[in-house]
Amino acid sequence: MSFLHIHNVHKRFGDTHVLKGIDIAIEKGDFLVLVGPSGCGKSTLLNMIAGLDAISEGELLLNGERINDLHPSRRDIAMVFQSYALYPSMTVAGNIGFGLEMRKVPKAKRREAIQRAAELLQIENLLNRKPAQLSGGQRQRVAMGRALVREPQLFLFDEPLSNLDAKLRVDMRTEIKQLHQRLGTTIVYVTHDQIEAMTLATRIAVMRGGELQQLGTPQSVYDDPNNLFVAGFMGSPSMNLVTARITRQDGALVARIASANNEVTLPIVRDRAALEAWCDRDVMLGLRPEAITDPASANREDGEIHEAELEVALVEPTGADLYVVTRLGGRSINARMRPGAPLSPGQSTRFAFDVSRMVAFDPETEARIRDETDATTQVTARPAALGQNV
Ligand SMILES: Nc1ncnc2c1ncn2[C@@H]1O[C@H](COP(=O)(O)OP(=O)(O)OP(=O)(O)O)[C@@H](O)[C@H]1O
Ligand SMILES: [Mg+2]
Repeated sequence: MSFLHIHNVHKRFGDTHVLKGIDIAIEKGDFLVLVGPSGCGKSTLLNMIAGLDAISEGELLLNGERINDLHPSRRDIAMVFQSYALYPSMTVAGNIGFGLEMRKVPKAKRREAIQRAAELLQIENLLNRKPAQLSGGQRQRVAMGRALVREPQLFLFDEPLSNLDAKLRVDMRTEIKQLHQRLGTTIVYVTHDQIEAMTLATRIAVMRGGELQQLGTPQSVYDDPNNLFVAGFMGSPSMNLVTARITRQDGALVARIASANNEVTLPIVRDRAALEAWCDRDVMLGLRPEAITDPASANREDGEIHEAELEVALVEPTGADLYVVTRLGGRSINARMRPGAPLSPGQSTRFAFDVSRMVAFDPETEARIRDETDATTQVTARPAALGQNV
């Protein structure tokens, strides 16, 4: 039995069908991150779990109990919103302890809980201040403290870090991760931030237009996307996607991709059985930027490297990496190379492709083309058509 089971949940606002049968199950201690484009229904789903919005159809089970009709105050769930409304006239301690006071928790116990939360969030020295005297990040921590002292069964976070500057976001991200590790709490967390999703989650759910596209570990969603949408959505810089023709060459299956002066031929080593059926047809090929490198940086131990000479179109140093853009299959392709590599636009150089990481998609349905045995992720594959939105 899962700890939180979202079972075939629908939400309609009048005629608008916002959630179209969401199925997600997580275990106690899981950190589920919901991602997806604006308007895909992430906040709606969170609000339904919290009990702030009624469920149109389906079931919500928490710890085996059906909570569809349970009043929010009785769900034992704490939610931290994007705009963490603190009571301006109360001190930090008052804000954190308010919920406990409402529930008539004795003063000594309250003080103890506030102290413990403040220590955890490193805001002990701020307990007597008013919210107006705090920075954004400190306010954020107070809002989190208010949720923490309740020791709920489940935490819900709706883009809690979106108001913070880049540096603070990274610090808070680390703190949330440590908090999760220390307390082992179960969390459902909404974010727009790719790195936040990858670093915090034990499970990622990718949503689009009110439908679940994929549910899996961060690594499986990243390496083994269910469809073109997930492939393009997860990762920054995003996965390279090019049209390729699957053919047979000397008895082996290969992918041929048009390049500026001739063609690049890459051997098919992954999902070979499924791609047999695509011989002499076009597919959409996906390869992550880090799977295209300079030959010296190529991972020859775990990967299967195939080299090709291509022209450099653009060089983008980021400090830690050097992104090199070339043209392939009529598209710009991003390769991650060794920083400091002496490359300049117009020059030809060897690119090393790790073909073991290459994934293929049906250009029409956008579904992944993969071998049965390769399906390591929980699939709800019903790839939404391009442009579709709620
Ligand atoms: N009360 C409502 N009445 C009608 N439609 C609503 C209502 N609340 C939300 N919606 C619609 O439901 C869809 C999903 O909204 P939701 O806020 O869940 O999206 P989201 O994924 O959280 O987006 P964002 O990333 O922008 O926060 C949107 O198209 C929105 O316009
Ligand atoms: Mg939202």
